[in-house]
Amino acid sequence: MTLAVDRIGMLVTNDPALGEGPLGLVRDASVVIADGLVLSVGPAGQVADERIDVGGACVLPGFVDSHTHLIFAGDRAEEFTARMTGQPYDGGGIRVTTEATRTASGDELRALTASRIAELRAGGTTTVEVKSGYGLNVDDEARILRLASEFTDETTFLGAHLLPTEFEDRADEYVELVCGPMLAACAPHARWVDAFCEKGAFDVDQCRAVLDAGREVGLGLRLHGNQLGHGPGVQLAVESGCASVDHCTYLSDADVDALAGSDTVATFLPATDFSTRQPYPDARRVIDAGATVAVATNCNPGSSYTTSMSFCIALAVREMGMTIDEAVQAATVGGATALRRTDVGRLTPGSAGHLAILDAPSHHHLAYRPGVPLVRQTIC
Ligand code: NIG
Repeated sequence: MTLAVDRIGMLVTNDPALGEGPLGLVRDASVVIADGLVLSVGPAGQVADERIDVGGACVLPGFVDSHTHLIFAGDRAEEFTARMTGQPYDGGGIRVTTEATRTASGDELRALTASRIAELRAGGTTTVEVKSGYGLNVDDEARILRLASEFTDETTFLGAHLLPTEFEDRADEYVELVCGPMLAACAPHARWVDAFCEKGAFDVDQCRAVLDAGREVGLGLRLHGNQLGHGPGVQLAVESGCASVDHCTYLSDADVDALAGSDTVATFLPATDFSTRQPYPDARRVIDAGATVAVATNCNPGSSYTTSMSFCIALAVREMGMTIDEAVQAATVGGATALRRTDVGRLTPGSAGHLAILDAPSHHHLAYRPGVPLVRQTIC
């Protein structure tokens, strides 16, 4: 069974060999999908068993959202409301969500997650990374990751998200638990390990211990770094060979140089800076230095309660100095690189047939029409 997505006015392939510029733009195109993979990219009118006529619309690879904390219960609207009147964000609300998540049943968490997945699919996201980190004990972290693997292959163990209340003043003991029994219970359900490297969360030695332990059992590495202030996160991520260091809101020149000289992706989460009233990172400086960048939602109930990659693209363009082309690239192939994937984030023969059809003639509208739900259909 083959499917032709036909009469595409502007196709973003992310393959410069297929079309114009770094986005590999092809006009008046069609894409044929067979067995879930792109069979061919060609002019409009390619023949297939089935056909979707998009009538001149723009089509792009499905978004790759490489950073979410999608599995949680509870609501922190009050915390957000207080922040909008000047209360600073410090991550302490992670404990509030942990409490709510621990007490939610499996069925409740599954239903909440399914509705968030439906929301992000409707917004054009076809690949999503999901972290644990609201269990913070062996059973709940493993439960969250088992559930996450029902929805995605990109699952991340984040036992080192915040010290749970019952370990107050016993951080090193908690890190031993994370690196020992918790990792053993979680690794079978995880592809990645992550830690929150920040004042008030875990220090550089504790994060290094978590990354080393994860590497030891075969997990890929990623890190939350430089979110709330300058710190050692980016340097640790680069030294450890992390696929991605996420947030990167506060970067020194040495951090930018380290990123540029590495294959660690700098993943920006602009909806977080929006929702926490933090300054936005200067993505221009990072891109100009030669680093690879991604843009993701960081969907979570505390610092960024959105599944909208379009919103993140608009913020990256308006507030972070990225061109629209760069932001769209960062939200597709950039996210794929942050997950070390070459099969998604692009529409080239052999890649996944994951795409978003816009109600717009070009990808520029994603930033030009902020807040407007422009994804007409997601194919995944
Ligand atoms: O990436 N920074 C750590 N974790 C999340 C926030 C989670 C929360 O506040 O619940 C983040 O912003």
